[in-house]
Amino acid sequence: RGPERRTATGAETLVTPADVAQQGRHLTTSTGARLQDSDHSLKAGERGPTLLQDHHLREKITHFDHERIPERVVHARGAGAHGVFVGYGNAKPVCKAAFLARHVETPVFVRFSTVLGSRGSADTVRDTRGFATKFYTSEGNFDLVGNNIPVFFIQDGIKFPDVIHAGKPHPDREIPQAQSAHDTFWDFVSLHTEAQHHTMWNMSDRGIPRSYRMMEGFGVHTFRTVNAQGETALVKLHWKPRLGVHSLTWEEAQLLGGVDPDFHRRDLADAIESGAFPQWELGMQVFPDTPEQTFEGIDLLDPTKLVPEELAPVQAVGLLTLTANPTNYFAETEQVAFHVGNMVPGIDVTDDPLMQARLFSYVDTQLLRLGGPNHNQIPINRPHVPVNDMFRDGFHQHAVHAGAAPYKPNSLDGGCPFFAGSATRDHAFVDIPAPVAAGVKERGAPPSFDDHFSQARLFWVSMTPVEQEHIVLAYTFELSRCYETAIRERQLQALANVDPELCARVAAGLGLTAPEPTVPLAEPAPSAALSQLGGTWSAE
Ligand code: HEM
Repeated sequence: RGPERRTATGAETLVTPADVAQQGRHLTTSTGARLQDSDHSLKAGERGPTLLQDHHLREKITHFDHERIPERVVHARGAGAHGVFVGYGNAKPVCKAAFLARHVETPVFVRFSTVLGSRGSADTVRDTRGFATKFYTSEGNFDLVGNNIPVFFIQDGIKFPDVIHAGKPHPDREIPQAQSAHDTFWDFVSLHTEAQHHTMWNMSDRGIPRSYRMMEGFGVHTFRTVNAQGETALVKLHWKPRLGVHSLTWEEAQLLGGVDPDFHRRDLADAIESGAFPQWELGMQVFPDTPEQTFEGIDLLDPTKLVPEELAPVQAVGLLTLTANPTNYFAETEQVAFHVGNMVPGIDVTDDPLMQARLFSYVDTQLLRLGGPNHNQIPINRPHVPVNDMFRDGFHQHAVHAGAAPYKPNSLDGGCPFFAGSATRDHAFVDIPAPVAAGVKERGAPPSFDDHFSQARLFWVSMTPVEQEHIVLAYTFELSRCYETAIRERQLQALANVDPELCARVAAGLGLTAPEPTVPLAEPAPSAALSQLGGTWSAE
């Protein structure tokens, strides 16, 4: 929108069009030669054949032919916005990251997304939503690549291709586009029962948000943080929307999918354009960094588990405000490249096996999607601090590197920067010397990862009767679209292991017999620990 764009301090992250294109008043070729006519190809005579020598025709068509890049393998459908994050300063005892310091303003770009649908699919489908934030901090980029659901389907990233293959459209007919109503999805989640907890959130009202502005966000994994004294903590990161958490009803979602498939995208852009800037507080749950890496018996390295807020309150540590729509969808929303490994001093990874696989996957996929190893030079991905790396050449290299010796130390490019920087500045990837759990090399998982049902049960019993009714209806509808009776029955068995009443109600809807639980039912949690676990203000 050019001059109409609303900006906040530092929210402008892009080069202006004048930097790279659309300069001057004349239409030109890409090499700057002025054109007289862009509507008629060069022909041998007025009605004659088109001539191969028409450079402009060839250049125009060739560029058009190459306009598309691969869509993201997951989260292809999304909408983005610029904004600013302001730290409250109270995270200092646990995390020394500069962007969390009091009153520090950090420009951000956020991309919201669905997971399974293709780039042109509808917004209001039942699915998980991505909530990815790039903080352009004074210490380099920090990417918080989260979802609107606090747990994940699988415990180990090695299964990610499997769960996505199961959730994507069937390979023969390429349907359904973006919902969980199909055989492979239910086949996977009923066989890999660690997925039951995440699936229950999908079947709840959380699976059909009212607006991107009204969703929570979660870093899901446990992160390790370090303070200025070198003391470490384990933390989980949360986004809390100022507008509260709201959902669509299933009927509303269905209607909107037909009437306005861009509903969430439009809602976000319209709100920002009208000055109703959406806001979220970033919150932290903090746990002691003990060798066991558990809290109140909950394994902090298991991404299918959350820690109820009553056991570890979420403490707000900063405020995010989205203030500007992208100028160009492709340049910004499509080309933005988030990566879990983009971390700043004060924040480090843990041994969560899902997180470990993600550390590899994002850059790997972006090498393909964005055409090579220089995608951090794309304007939306550029950090807002000086970059001085020893990377050279490669596809789409924009930098003109000087000097002869891209290695350090060297004795040729006199005075060139070295690792030392300054004594006052912190450095990234100075790994926190956390002990590594000893053991033999094996493909395994700890016994705590075998508990697949207790937190799904906690979620179910924390729901209000209306929310429970929505969950029953969602399971019933989605499973009714699964054609294999054996798969439906296997999923009913999983539901019986979560809660017999839930199972009986879904089984009745499907006209099937409810099985008995095959595992002892988890003890209901004390009611105080349930009230905020998954509560949603739904549209009803
Ligand atoms: C993309 C979240 C697990 C691989 C994304 C995006 C989000 C996200 C929000 C979209 C980023 C954007 O808007 O551009 C999550 C969360 C996970 C998770 C919260 C679990 C806690 C995984 C795992 C893998 C993976 C386990 C692989 C091992 C990918 C890939 C993309 C992606 C390949 C596409 C990135 C691109 O093309 O730029 N994920 N993801 N994700 N994720 Fe994940």
